[in-house]
Amino acid sequence: MTDQLFALPTAERDDAAAAAPSPWWRDAVIYQIYPRSFADSDGDGIGDLPGIRSRLPYLRELGVDAVWLSPFYASPQADAGYDVADYRMVDPMFGTIADAQGLIADAHGLGIRVIVDLVPNHSSDQHEWFRRAIAEGPGSPLRGRYHFQPGQGENGELPPNNWKSIFGGPAWTRTTDPDGTPGDWYLHLFAPEQPDFNWEHPAVADEFRTILRFWLDLGVDGFRIDVAHGMVKAEGLPDIDESREWHLLDAGISPCFDRDGVHEIYRSWRRILDEYPGERIAVAEAWAPTLERVANYVRPDELHQAFNFSYLGTAWDAADQRKVIDDSLEAMRKVGAPATWTLSNHDVVRHTTRMLQPNDGDEVAGRKPIDVDPAAGQRRARAATLLMLALPGSAYLYQGEELGLPEVVDLPPEVRQDPAFHRANGQDGYRDGCRVPIPWDGDRTPYGFGPPDGPSWLPQPESWAQLSVAAQQGRPGSTLELYRAALALRHSDPALGAADNLTWCEAPEGLLVFERAPHFRCTVNMTAAPIRIPMPGRALLTSGPVDLDGAEVEIPADTTIWWSV
Ligand code: NOJ
Repeated sequence: MTDQLFALPTAERDDAAAAAPSPWWRDAVIYQIYPRSFADSDGDGIGDLPGIRSRLPYLRELGVDAVWLSPFYASPQADAGYDVADYRMVDPMFGTIADAQGLIADAHGLGIRVIVDLVPNHSSDQHEWFRRAIAEGPGSPLRGRYHFQPGQGENGELPPNNWKSIFGGPAWTRTTDPDGTPGDWYLHLFAPEQPDFNWEHPAVADEFRTILRFWLDLGVDGFRIDVAHGMVKAEGLPDIDESREWHLLDAGISPCFDRDGVHEIYRSWRRILDEYPGERIAVAEAWAPTLERVANYVRPDELHQAFNFSYLGTAWDAADQRKVIDDSLEAMRKVGAPATWTLSNHDVVRHTTRMLQPNDGDEVAGRKPIDVDPAAGQRRARAATLLMLALPGSAYLYQGEELGLPEVVDLPPEVRQDPAFHRANGQDGYRDGCRVPIPWDGDRTPYGFGPPDGPSWLPQPESWAQLSVAAQQGRPGSTLELYRAALALRHSDPALGAADNLTWCEAPEGLLVFERAPHFRCTVNMTAAPIRIPMPGRALLTSGPVDLDGAEVEIPADTTIWWSV
């Protein structure tokens, strides 16, 4: 049996920032950095901006076009930085504004664009506006910038409506007035430390326009918009239908998600982005109920991209995958936006583990992971990745997936930090398992994540020495070399560009086969048994070992092959 066809990329990549054809984002590969878990320069056990800066050459070699950084702003970290106290300040835990500027400059020097996270649905309860709103009491004009409401019941002891927090428990918390008596309630769709802004208040919209400009002036290439479907709530904050479960990816029209009013906000943001040179972009984290509703966020005068959670939540099944790919391409085609593809992020079980688990529908965030056979998980994840990277559009990678990291399923409750885990008494909120700091080198923790023998904010498994960057670098057949080879081919082969051309070919059941003009073919065996077909052409890359001698090829289970035909 021949080994994988991993050609180590030899050709130098183009300098994306300088020479890539515009618009760069239509087929970009964007790598998500979760700052607290990427690289720790000062040995406090938490990753930081200087750490990221020092590892940028690795990302250039990997071949990504851009990075998206999860929040690094001033924050009490009640939700790992998605609770922002100051949108224009870097949290000292992560560094300084000068570090952010240095990171942006270094990344641009290497041809890597930088996308930052923007969290407009809610702030931290330590944001100056909210702190003052509480301290000044019921008459404070700052209360209008959040959703403060009197309670129901004789003494206001019941929440204003029946909305629930995504992290468990009610979506309302009662305040205490300055004189010590119980006061009004405030809305938080997430943790109590994350009060929702009232986007009807003009000061909120003004503030976010200036925050956008602040980071654009600093040189960022775009924004990932957190809870992009949440900012506008139904007038009067009506009760929800209790008979329905309360999910992010809600199957109906909810009073607080995916309201038509959010699109006005994005039109105004698009005008700002377009004022800046160099194709600055925004990508929506919008858990809308259908791909058609997701497409609304990327109409020509709105945002550029939206995450494709329907794809992420689709089972490893040939018919289901084909359908979601077709539906995604069609929905985006109608509005002229590129499709996006992603398999992992900081909120879901890593796909090395997830793709072997029973699939119970679209709801993927917070799902409890189970242990799977690591070799089988890696085999399927690699096949899924090669499929994803062959699709037209833009792909999002999550740090560590290029190392084939599995979900860490056995973190003890006392080390877990996901607020949802603690609010739901440990029955929900399993997001720490995909946030464990990544291994760079060495044979003991923290595996180069920080200084030798230094701490790591979540414990890393013993088995990760063999998954480190150093252990995989230059090793034919490693997951890291597979990613490098795939990204190098994506860059060098015009058939793998942004053009929205994908044609399905006749194939035996369980085998997905599609072509992209002029000469590219992808075959994916999604069954548990090998499938034999006539040799279609010259193999470019395989996700696992394949025997390529002969007139026929036997494609092993859970294996993807890229061909030139
Ligand atoms: C989505 C983010 O990805 C997640 O990590 C966060 O907890 C929620 N939004 C709330 O900001």
